[in-house]
Amino acid sequence: MELDFPTIELVEGKARLMVPEGVGRIEPSKLPAFYNPASKISRDFAVLTTAAYFDSSGRTFAEPLAGLGARAVRLMLEASRFSEGFASDINERSARLIELNARLNGLEGSLRGYHMDGNLLLVKLAAEGARVHYVDLDPSGSPARFLENSIRAVRSEGLIGVSATDLAALTGASQRTARWRYSLNLSRTVFGKEVAMRALAAICAVTAGRLSRSAVPVLSVVKAHFVRVFARIERGKLRAFEAVSALGYLRYCDSCLSVEVIGDLQGLGGRCPSCGSDVRALGPLWLGPLKDDSLVNKALSSELAEDPGFGEAVRVLKRVREELPDVPYSYPVSELARRARCSPPSVTWLIEQLRSLGFRASRVHYDGSAVKTDAPASEVIGLLRA
Ligand SMILES: C[S@@+](CC[C@H](N)C(=O)[O-])C[C@H]1O[C@@H](n2cnc3c(N)ncnc32)[C@H](O)[C@@H]1O
Ligand SMILES: [Zn+2]
Repeated sequence: MELDFPTIELVEGKARLMVPEGVGRIEPSKLPAFYNPASKISRDFAVLTTAAYFDSSGRTFAEPLAGLGARAVRLMLEASRFSEGFASDINERSARLIELNARLNGLEGSLRGYHMDGNLLLVKLAAEGARVHYVDLDPSGSPARFLENSIRAVRSEGLIGVSATDLAALTGASQRTARWRYSLNLSRTVFGKEVAMRALAAICAVTAGRLSRSAVPVLSVVKAHFVRVFARIERGKLRAFEAVSALGYLRYCDSCLSVEVIGDLQGLGGRCPSCGSDVRALGPLWLGPLKDDSLVNKALSSELAEDPGFGEAVRVLKRVREELPDVPYSYPVSELARRARCSPPSVTWLIEQLRSLGFRASRVHYDGSAVKTDAPASEVIGLLRA
């Protein structure tokens, strides 16, 4: 197979990969075929999560935006669950590399590469009755254009893994984009990364609901430049209704950090009950758990997790495991300390103090200096003052 650009071979996980020369030096999107070494951890999560989610082999997956096939090859080689994979990319050079990389790893016949629009691949799989057990949707930017077809292409009780890199919109930093792209009311908070996970989980739930399916998160992470939600897909109107009932709003006061969880639109807006300032409503956001504890435990106790190559992903998952599941926000200790007019204490100290007062408290995986707690912000700030 002819390539009209120079390549080098490198190793990621168990995969040998032919990648364009210039990887690491040149921006991934400027290469003849997309490959981002910094996204290795995203691929690690995909391997760990699918290995833990599916309990037997013979499974199938699709990756509609596959780049040069790094993720698809690794899923085939490392998750020990997949017997067949469908990987497409709109860029012809990427599509050629998918095929070459499949062959380089002995996957000809089981990993099929397509030079095709991702939506077309997904629709074909669904229309031809070849729905897969797992769809990995990994765009540059927003997954919105591909999400509905991804859910269509997944079997009931299957899994989707969805990334987004438009963090400005999903964290609430870019309110306008959140509004026009996702119909979400977001704004800046001190827990923007938590908002990003819950916004993406909400988008998955709403999109699935439209197709009479439910999408319930089993793992959600924010790392480096991306947010990623893995969600279980099930069919049925009742399931869809149950899932979207985990959507709701937060009322957030930037002045004193007070946050209230509000199930529906009633009681939105107005004044902060704690300090009287104007509050802002955020949502709809996924307010249910962002993870399935048994899946996370399974991933962490798997053989894969002992492989040093997964070290960073495993460290993140351990943090994820500790997080309070039912507190949909967090506080950076520096912001609490600023309002208490003291120097920031260590997170460990603060968590111990909160627990000794009878509150629940944990760290968060996306910010080493933030805390999740069911104590009201005023209580935490009071504690710091004292
Ligand atoms: C972030 S990269 C994928 C990286 C890959 N998933 C990995 O883990 O290495 C996004 C890819 O989507 C491809 N792409 C963009 N629009 C597409 C479309 N409509 N259909 C198929 N591929 C598309 C781009 O060419 C690019 O290779
Ligand atoms: Zn307030």
